[in-house]
Amino acid sequence: MPTITILPSGKSVEAETGSRLLDALLAAGEPIVSKCGGEANCGQCHVFVQEGRKSLSKTTRTENEKLDSIVGVSSKSRLACQALLGAENVTVELLGFGSGF
Ligand code: FES
Repeated sequence: MPTITILPSGKSVEAETGSRLLDALLAAGEPIVSKCGGEANCGQCHVFVQEGRKSLSKTTRTENEKLDSIVGVSSKSRLACQALLGAENVTVELLGFGSGF
């Protein structure tokens, strides 16, 4: 059962292996927006995975295409609605949400 450490709040939550990163962030009470309901459409669940990236599910083509259309993505970017948790701990950074991105 992986632990997700969330920056910048510093919160940690445990989640089930195979569950969506988005659901873990919402369960932690983070103000993450999911306008499209997790369809890789709105891009609002964009996060930076700082550690444990390899433990997450692979980026799908749909996710990649959406990420390509978002300003400010990096090699650490994922859509939280598309990333499924593996067995290992991850650290994610939510910078950008507070600015209405
Ligand atoms: S919730 Fe819309 S892209 Fe993830």
